Amino acid sequence: MTVHFIGAGPGAPDLITLRGRDLIARCPVCLYAGSLVPAALLDHCPAGARIVNSAPLALDEIVAIMAEAHERNEEVARLHSGDLSVWSAMGEQIRRLEALGIPYDITPGVPSFAAAAAAIGTELTLPELGQSLVLTRTPGRASAMPPGESLSAFGATGATLAIHLSIHNIAQVVRDLVPLYGVDCPVAIVWRASWPDQRVVRGTLGTIEEAAVGGPERTAIILVGPVLGSRDFAESSLYAPGYDRRFRPSSADSIFIGKP
Ligand SMILES: C[S@@+](CC[C@H](N)C(=O)[O-])C[C@H]1O[C@@H](n2cnc3c(N)ncnc32)[C@H](O)[C@@H]1O
Repeated sequence: MTVHFIGAGPGAPDLITLRGRDLIARCPVCLYAGSLVPAALLDHCPAGARIVNSAPLALDEIVAIMAEAHERNEEVARLHSGDLSVWSAMGEQIRRLEALGIPYDITPGVPSFAAAAAAIGTELTLPELGQSLVLTRTPGRASAMPPGESLSAFGATGATLAIHLSIHNIAQVVRDLVPLYGVDCPVAIVWRASWPDQRVVRGTLGTIEEAAVGGPERTAIILVGPVLGSRDFAESSLYAPGYDRRFRPSSADSIFIGKP
């Protein structure tokens, strides 16, 4: 028996991996984080499956359901939104499972920042404009930020920022970032990327707070950085005709000739 942690993707029910879908289809128990996991994914559960929304449950109750399934030798599909590697609360669950000797595995999912980037049609790393992406958040009621992990600290690098869990803090985000990126720095807010009610607002650090007024107060990514605004960037060397590379030696003298 195994607990299968499955990244359920950002919202659109077809943005789940084939592996994730197939695991759901074979597990007699499905625990899903109902606040963000699309209900349509539950259609993949086998007939008669026990399907439990974990949103109103405490960690002890969630682990108890997993432990009961383990005793009955039943596999569990555990669905969290997006990918499991960020803000999924998987860490505390696998720690409990390890203590109980219950096996688990992990199937990644499409993270919401990727769905947000797709929604605005933008690559988040562009030559010379931005080569790093910071996935971060601002402090919340349940989560303080570790020392040093401030927006100001990340913003000082000039990297592209994908700010999660922070739409209610947009005023503070703007206050922290204007001194570092300038008022003209492009910003995009994507609410519920890939859901039918997806919404996008674009602006700059100078205009975005006003532009976001009236928008929903949750489930949004705030993307900030020069890569968002410009079609004026250098092309990467990768596909440049004269660039010598292993998979396309540029001449008979290439250092890559004869290399596997
Ligand atoms: C608890 S975290 C889950 C993150 C998730 N594990 C991931 O891979 O994106 C919830 C936050 O992720 C972001 N989020 C999740 N789904 C989203 C979506 N479809 N569109 C925009 N933001 C989303 C929002 O910032 C939201 O407050």
